[in-house]
Amino acid sequence: MKLDQLTIVLATQNPNKAREIQEMLDGAYNVVSMEEMGIHDELVENGKTIEENSELKARQLRNLLHDPNAVVMADDTGLYVDALDGAPGVFSARYAGDDVSYEQNNEKLLKELKDVKPEDRTAEFKTCITLLTPESDLITVTGTVPGSITESRKGASGFGYDPLFIEKSTGRTYAEMTEDEKNQVSHRKEAISRIVPLLEQYSRHKTNKILASYTIADNK
Ligand code: IMP
Repeated sequence: MKLDQLTIVLATQNPNKAREIQEMLDGAYNVVSMEEMGIHDELVENGKTIEENSELKARQLRNLLHDPNAVVMADDTGLYVDALDGAPGVFSARYAGDDVSYEQNNEKLLKELKDVKPEDRTAEFKTCITLLTPESDLITVTGTVPGSITESRKGASGFGYDPLFIEKSTGRTYAEMTEDEKNQVSHRKEAISRIVPLLEQYSRHKTNKILASYTIADNK
């Protein structure tokens, strides 16, 4: 960790997600999870769209941090299937119900598309990222990747809907890609690449001071 780097607190309890985003940002920023900041509150995600949820999470985290220097980042993702009028969309995490597994969501998606022909199984993955600066500037960007839904699971890597989502430009499911390959083309990467120039612009003019007060063991 370099002490002069800008620190971004990500609205997630998952340190791995923070590492993934840090890597996508080429290590130019220190990205830390809420857990690493000692915040264990659950964030409410009851928006009608992923954009709303992303903004909601950013604002809640801002209030929980009680740190005027923190830059907050929140993200929310959805899979939008054309033949299902955009479902599961904002409900992607709980498509088959509350507290369900990825497997159960995948099962439901395949079932809903049972009678839909391959050419009509088009879909897109969308990630929305919100950045909330100490000066209360709120920036929201989206990254979208077109594709389609398979008729059965393909590939063994990744998580969530990865075995069902065929990324259009490669013709492969996310689950058939290595983590690095997926991170080159994914919806999350697309959104991150849109936020990069904004972060660069911000960090040219500001530095934050939260770094000195926290020890982040694996943030080298
Ligand atoms: P979240 O907003 O990142 O929590 O994503 C919401 C839901 O979308 C997750 O529970 C997953 O089911 C799905 N999802 C998000 N990102 C991906 C991905 O990269 N691959 C497959 N499924 C994803």
